Amino acid sequence: MCGIIGYTGNEPAKDILINGLKQLEYRGYDSAGIAVLDPNSGIVLKKKTGKVEELAKAAEAEKTDATCGIGHTRWATHGGVTETNAHPHSQGQVTICHNGIIENYKELTTEYGLKNVLKSETDTEVVAALLDKFYEGDPYKTIKKVVDLLAGSFALCIMFEDQPGKIFAIRNVSPMVAAAFDGGSIIASDLTAVINFSKKYFVVPEYHILTLTDSGITVQDLKGRKVEPEILEVNWDITSAQKGGYPHYMLKEINEQPEAIERTVAPRIQNGLPFLADDGIDDDVLKNLKDIVIVACGTAMHAGMVGKSIIESKLRIPVLVEIASEFRYKDPIIDEKTLTIVVSQSGETIDTLEALRLAKQKGSKVLSVVNVKGSTIARESDYVLYTHAGPEIAVASTKAYTVQIAAMYILAARLGLVRGVVSEEETKEFMEKLLGVGELMQKTIEASNDIRRIANHIKTAPDVFYIGRGIDYTLSLEASLKLKEISYIHSEAYAAGELKHGTIALISENVPVIAIATEEHVYPKVISNVREVKSRGAYVILISCEGKTESKEVCDKQIYIPKVDSVFGVFATAVILQLIAYYTSDAKGLDVDKPRNLAKSVTVE
Ligand code: M6R
Repeated sequence: MCGIIGYTGNEPAKDILINGLKQLEYRGYDSAGIAVLDPNSGIVLKKKTGKVEELAKAAEAEKTDATCGIGHTRWATHGGVTETNAHPHSQGQVTICHNGIIENYKELTTEYGLKNVLKSETDTEVVAALLDKFYEGDPYKTIKKVVDLLAGSFALCIMFEDQPGKIFAIRNVSPMVAAAFDGGSIIASDLTAVINFSKKYFVVPEYHILTLTDSGITVQDLKGRKVEPEILEVNWDITSAQKGGYPHYMLKEINEQPEAIERTVAPRIQNGLPFLADDGIDDDVLKNLKDIVIVACGTAMHAGMVGKSIIESKLRIPVLVEIASEFRYKDPIIDEKTLTIVVSQSGETIDTLEALRLAKQKGSKVLSVVNVKGSTIARESDYVLYTHAGPEIAVASTKAYTVQIAAMYILAARLGLVRGVVSEEETKEFMEKLLGVGELMQKTIEASNDIRRIANHIKTAPDVFYIGRGIDYTLSLEASLKLKEISYIHSEAYAAGELKHGTIALISENVPVIAIATEEHVYPKVISNVREVKSRGAYVILISCEGKTESKEVCDKQIYIPKVDSVFGVFATAVILQLIAYYTSDAKGLDVDKPRNLAKSVTVE
């Protein structure tokens, strides 16, 4: 939710900031702005509503060689989408960018009599005004004093007009990474904006004050002590965060799935068996658990549902899947015998993070399945199983989802083995099949022409329904979310057998129903449900395994996945469903990668 960046060094800052904001744009894209600190003319500020490209055009005429500046790309929370509400915000000597939410901004405004100085409706400007109010020439002292007053989450980049060449930064919860390199110092919400300058970086520690200059970065805790942050090295390069010839990130990321699965699964196989010791995952915790709760949001939660399906059916361990924002406020029934599995691509979704904290408070051990290395969720978990999808830039999650499912499968396999529920032979076979799903996905991607035609058909539909049973039902939930978020078509996912209990009233002539029927044992049941909608005029698209061909009386179109046990078929089916959403959005001429009202990571409640 919002991307921030700061750069100080030897090069003109303007272009560096704008290019960095382009990388960060997926975090929020309703307005953007930059401020550079020119030693001669002071702060030069440029803001624009709309995407970063609008800002880039507006800033073209701005002639400044200033080598120090900060920038922001916004997803509005407090205050509408206006130029005044866009960041950076200046108050007197102080200019800041902020990601997060200051929960007590109203109280602070009243207590410190700031109402008359504020120009915007944002919580952020209150912080700028407080910093300016208390500033007497010592940035460290002032930041410390103001931060003590703040409630909420924040990542702040701050410039003081009488401190040329310097950027100060501090954070609580909201993420920031920083790097010092030959040409200066850079700080940003995530690595995509840093990696062009340095592969070595550090995660900004919470409640530490950073001073960035052209010759390096100092980190001090709030007692004034210098701290040496742990330097990490990124294992992907900038090309991973670029489109690489694809028209959209989403299509690129769909195509990257076979590799991402291989990267996630292969290193966790030793002698054919699942191996989690290198991840620091203790077999004892798997052996001794009595139940599992999976907590996540959105797509990650849907991956959790697939995990539940396999863990319950193969291992007979009770698994609850909880929406993180609900879990937080319901006094969940968990204890030290419960393993809480937290799933998150970004590792910074606030609802998921707070759910994790609650689970720990209740004595549960927390194992997180996370894509972003060093993210808050990863750092606060007892165990981390990193997925290796690489950076996911499209707002609609695709490759992160399938690697999350793969991670669940690895966990399930290890669980089965260490608890003695599944034999070594069976486990080896399972892992071999899991490793093979990349190939199935590749074949599905290559045969995607039909999917494009189907998308063309449904692009004008006002409503689309997805139905399935068992694991296919969990897939339909994700498919429906994907279609809604990028094509803006209303869609619902239903357990196929449940439709007749009410919702079937919505089925009429030509309403598209996408039926997923890859599970052998319930195939005839799903087909019966398909007949029910077909006889009411629905336009049925049936996804089934090769060899299961149905007549025109049953369905209008059929898409096949390779004939495989549905536990492994989910990967190929997921690709088909992602492509249906992708091509529909594209056929409607929408901004596939940056759908309206959304942002990549949701760091507000
Ligand atoms: O970063 P996370 O996995 O924690 O994000 C969770 C959801 O916000 C995310 O999956 C969201 O639902 C996607 N945009 C859906 O495509």
